[in-house]
Amino acid sequence: MRRQALVVALLPIVFYASAEKCSWQNCPSYSENKDVLNVHLICHTHDDLGWLKTVDQYFWGSERELFAVGVQYIYNTVLDELEKDPSRRFSFAETGFLWRWMITQTGNQQQRLRKLIQNGQIEIIGGGWVQNDEAAAHYSEIVDQMGWGLRYLNDSFGECAKPKVAWQIDPFGHSKEFANLCSKFGFDALFFARMHYLEKAKRMKEQNLDFIWETSPDLKTGILTGAFHHHYSPPPGFCFDRVCVDDPIMDNKELEGYNVDEKVGRFVDYVQNERTMQRHNHIMLLMGDDFQYTNANTWYSNLDKLIKYVNEKANKTVKVFYSTPSCYVDAVMNSGVHFETKTDDLFPYATGEHSFWTGYFTSRPTFKRYIRESHAYLQLLKKLDAFAFPQQGADGTLSKLSRATSLVEHHDAITGTARQTVTDDYSKQLSIGRHQGTERLDAIVDKLTTKGSSTTSHLPTQKVCLINETTCDVSQKSADFTVTIYNAYTQPMSRVVRAPLYEKGAKVYNQHGVEIHSEVVKSFLTNQLPLAGRAPYELQFAATIQPLGFVTYFVKSGQNSYKQKLQADHKSATRRWKNLEAQETTASNGAIELTFDSNGFLKSYTDTASKMTKPLKQEYLFYHGMGDGMGQPTGAYVFRPNGTEPIAVSQTATLKIVKTEMMIEIRQIFSSWVSQVIRMEANKKLIEFQWTVGPIPKEKINPIAKEVITRFTTDINSNGVFYTDSNGRQMMKRTRYFAADYTYENTEPISANYYPITSMIYIEDKASQLTIFTDRSQGGSSLKDRQVELMVHRRAFHDDNFGVAEPLDEPGRTGRGLVATGSHFLLFGEGEEAKVSRKVLAQQIFHEPFVTFGELSTPIQQYITERKTEFSGLATSLPTHINILSLEVVEENILTLRLEHILESADDKLNSKPIVVDLTGLFSTFDIISAEELTLGANERIRQSDSDTSSGRAINKLSRKNNFGVKMSPMDIKTFRVEVRSRQ
Ligand SMILES: *[C@@H]1O[C@H](CO)[C@@H](O)[C@H](O)[C@H]1NC(C)=O
Ligand SMILES: *[C@@H]1O[C@H](CO)[C@@H](O)[C@H](O)[C@H]1NC(C)=O
Repeated sequence: MRRQALVVALLPIVFYASAEKCSWQNCPSYSENKDVLNVHLICHTHDDLGWLKTVDQYFWGSERELFAVGVQYIYNTVLDELEKDPSRRFSFAETGFLWRWMITQTGNQQQRLRKLIQNGQIEIIGGGWVQNDEAAAHYSEIVDQMGWGLRYLNDSFGECAKPKVAWQIDPFGHSKEFANLCSKFGFDALFFARMHYLEKAKRMKEQNLDFIWETSPDLKTGILTGAFHHHYSPPPGFCFDRVCVDDPIMDNKELEGYNVDEKVGRFVDYVQNERTMQRHNHIMLLMGDDFQYTNANTWYSNLDKLIKYVNEKANKTVKVFYSTPSCYVDAVMNSGVHFETKTDDLFPYATGEHSFWTGYFTSRPTFKRYIRESHAYLQLLKKLDAFAFPQQGADGTLSKLSRATSLVEHHDAITGTARQTVTDDYSKQLSIGRHQGTERLDAIVDKLTTKGSSTTSHLPTQKVCLINETTCDVSQKSADFTVTIYNAYTQPMSRVVRAPLYEKGAKVYNQHGVEIHSEVVKSFLTNQLPLAGRAPYELQFAATIQPLGFVTYFVKSGQNSYKQKLQADHKSATRRWKNLEAQETTASNGAIELTFDSNGFLKSYTDTASKMTKPLKQEYLFYHGMGDGMGQPTGAYVFRPNGTEPIAVSQTATLKIVKTEMMIEIRQIFSSWVSQVIRMEANKKLIEFQWTVGPIPKEKINPIAKEVITRFTTDINSNGVFYTDSNGRQMMKRTRYFAADYTYENTEPISANYYPITSMIYIEDKASQLTIFTDRSQGGSSLKDRQVELMVHRRAFHDDNFGVAEPLDEPGRTGRGLVATGSHFLLFGEGEEAKVSRKVLAQQIFHEPFVTFGELSTPIQQYITERKTEFSGLATSLPTHINILSLEVVEENILTLRLEHILESADDKLNSKPIVVDLTGLFSTFDIISAEELTLGANERIRQSDSDTSSGRAINKLSRKNNFGVKMSPMDIKTFRVEVRSRQ
């Protein structure tokens, strides 16, 4: 089997040898004369992997009444047209579609595509599986989806398919960290269209559409960035696609309609105007748009004529030719002009005074969480797979989950801006992928827990339960079960595990079979979610999980006869709840004490050790969203509140405190649709706020959109400044009512100050800091000093007129409206120490331990005799601020390993410094026998000139002395191809 695969893989390599020229080696000639304007025609298509139609509907071209286009035809007809004339060029992005085309074609067709890539007529741009969103996507997700696309290109087409430019032409705002990662992927430039309208206007005026983006003060990375003036569409009058209405070029005077002079005149006027916005004599015209070129002939027939007549008739002032983005970049770099630099990012994006695209930071909150969680699951699986089966190569067992998690990073998926049916399809793909993943998990755990011949029983099938909704098939069906907790993080983690329980009593045994302390508490069940299937009890026990590993605990619960009685008990629970008298009350977990006012709201915070007390108010409010009839409505993309003051969800909250030795919970109900559990593990300083919001009420007539926020108020004098993360990595300083690169106009005082919060937001003064971590991306801000707010959920009843043509009115499971639950984690900190732990906590939250349940059919002692109940992939520990971002099998005994330093220099003086990581003997199931440093996408060796001195030295050491020391400086992220040998 394996040998066969190898032969197939070799075929294309033979073919690469005969490669003529890659696109960037086959650039058209241009004029060096400064008086001549060079016009690079970029033939391209922008193909969303799902939006109004699902990705596969777009590929096949089905559901024609929605949009009569099909991506398969684009590939078919572009190939036909390119073969007719070697001067023609085309640039393809979106590897997810390229893959679909390849797997549906015959070898002959595939070969035609290969040939056009090898001769430089086709350039691959971007190269990610999708053009990912840059606000809601976490950097780990970005690295994965880009890596997945680049790897496919590399495996299928080799050198000439390596994209040279990053292509993000549609995403709704651009992050600094994404641009930073682009330079680590080895891109020469980054292009996009969307930018705040005031910044765009200013750049056009100042000839700054092309600029150098300085993307990391630590890594000193920078990338040439180009923004398009006219979206990513052809000039007005020159759209020759089947779906356009512009006239073709009619060039025979024998016939009616001759329009060559008119077309040439109009074209020259247009390009000369474009030139006024540039510092050099090159412009790039994007000849294409969404799903264009389903009949490439209409395009190329007319562009051939356009080129011919403009070059003939424009008096040699303009030179037009087919080109590609990398050829444009080459030409611009050779022009020797000076570019300005930029250090801020491009959020928020606005298309007009009242159209701020900040709603999508929160839109579809449960889907955003499902993506985050599924991605984290994939990372766990890939890491454990590397420990269990490094010799199996990339055998496709995780391919469905890899494809699905990459797909949903698309800028109409994770953003929540696709139609409901399309979003349902994304969730379905994730679920199919996770199903395949869980089958693999069974095989992995089986392998890693096997004790040679003493293992005779089958490992129970591992099942995932919805702990967020307190439901669990396994614990409902089976009195005795295993709870296996996994840790994909590079440091050990200790957690109080909560398991849904359908019995009143249970005993818990640890990995050695010793009974440990556990407690059972009543679940917090409100009527927001359907009660059917939900467990009346929750079991709590403390667990420690080793790095890159797992541990199995055993639960023996009571008898099933309990169940019926408990159901009745359970129903009356909410009634009794309401009768509770709320009064000023305190709750302490040993490390901190929280005080609640007589209305049931959190009021203050006291650090037990330092006796520091701070006001800390927390409340739920909502903005009314703008409906129609008042200009821009609020919707899936846009957040436009009606007015600036949010409305409180309630004036009072019921409150109940549930305390065990391990944990204290303060359970609050604010209204029929908002409730919360404030949870503190004993003696820890991190406070969890688990919110449950929904169904958001909808009035029967003229419903009003609602944008629900949680708001924290303390006494930190933040002075108009707050900090938000960029894709979960570097922090960005935000100043209220201010923009670094244009003059801020206060047309939308709330929405214009919203930023994407991928993992955290904080405010600080000299004495202290308040940080809130999120478990998914949300919009957030600090609209007043001392305050932080995060938007957790939203429901809108009008379309916001940016194309999705559907209101963001999620029905949820019951049709009454979507209920979402999630967590914020709050940290009060003093001094430098808090700054460092912030980054560590963000990692721990991202790597939240994953839990599976299995029915237990053998006695515990027998299980322990037969199976290992604990595993760690790390043989030695890693420094606290070094993380293994990825570990993944790519070929037989070949892994991709990515290491990262999680701190920025700005984080702290003590710990933000270079650390040498020794790869020797680091892992428990294999040894690394060689390592080679690659670019972030793992598709190219680091050229010595690209690598900074520290990594340059690391490579030398690796190859010369077999000393596996890797120097990691703050914010470093290093990728290695490592060859491993299993330890027996
Ligand atoms: C080229 O020059 C001629 C003569 O000066 C002029 O009439 C014509 O408009 C010019 N064409 C363009 C496209 O500028
Ligand atoms: C609970 O988690 C599951 C899986 O991630 C998700 O599908 C579901 O929407 C979540 N429930 C709520 C109420 O948020």
